[in-house]
Amino acid sequence: MTAMTVNERPVDFDMDPDTPLLHALRDAANLTGTKYGCGEGDCGACMVLVDGEALRSCLVTIGEAEGRFITTIEGLSRDRSHPVQQALVAEQAIQCGFCTPGIAIAAASLLRGNPDPTEAQIRAAIPNLCRCGVYPRLIKAVQRASRVGRRRETISAAPPPGIDREDAARVVPGMRTESPAADAEGSD
Ligand code: FES
Ligand code: FES
Repeated sequence: MTAMTVNERPVDFDMDPDTPLLHALRDAANLTGTKYGCGEGDCGACMVLVDGEALRSCLVTIGEAEGRFITTIEGLSRDRSHPVQQALVAEQAIQCGFCTPGIAIAAASLLRGNPDPTEAQIRAAIPNLCRCGVYPRLIKAVQRASRVGRRRETISAAPPPGIDREDAARVVPGMRTESPAADAEGSD
């Protein structure tokens, strides 16, 4: 068993310790918001926060992640209220959306350590590839998220996804609000 904390919940993966964290999150924890792009560390689609640092989860094994605190896009906020999420939507910096979770994670990590980054710092901190080419809007979105985070601006909340949180949690175990143990007890 490899133990870690994922989205503030303790998780034990009964998998080979050499398994990439990306696959454990997607295939075992059903946290499919983290995307599999290249699998080789190039695209950034698989980025998650590991102890607050944005890392490519295809390059991190679960053995290396043992005991650490992982945050996936599902855990960044449960209601899309993180300033980065709000700003990406408001600036229409999303087209197909495949790269978006990794970008949101990289941007959140940047703003956490540097609340008012320059454009050069944004470009350097978010090397993620986007085949749809949202780069100009992405810069604007991160700058706007920075202003929101510093309370210089507010953004109306993004519309709800049209899926009840509890319904979503039934098919995404990593989003459940109750513990698995409680689930098991309740099903007896
Ligand atoms: S899937 Fe990890 S960097 Fe592309
Ligand atoms: S929005 Fe399509 S890959 Fe970035």
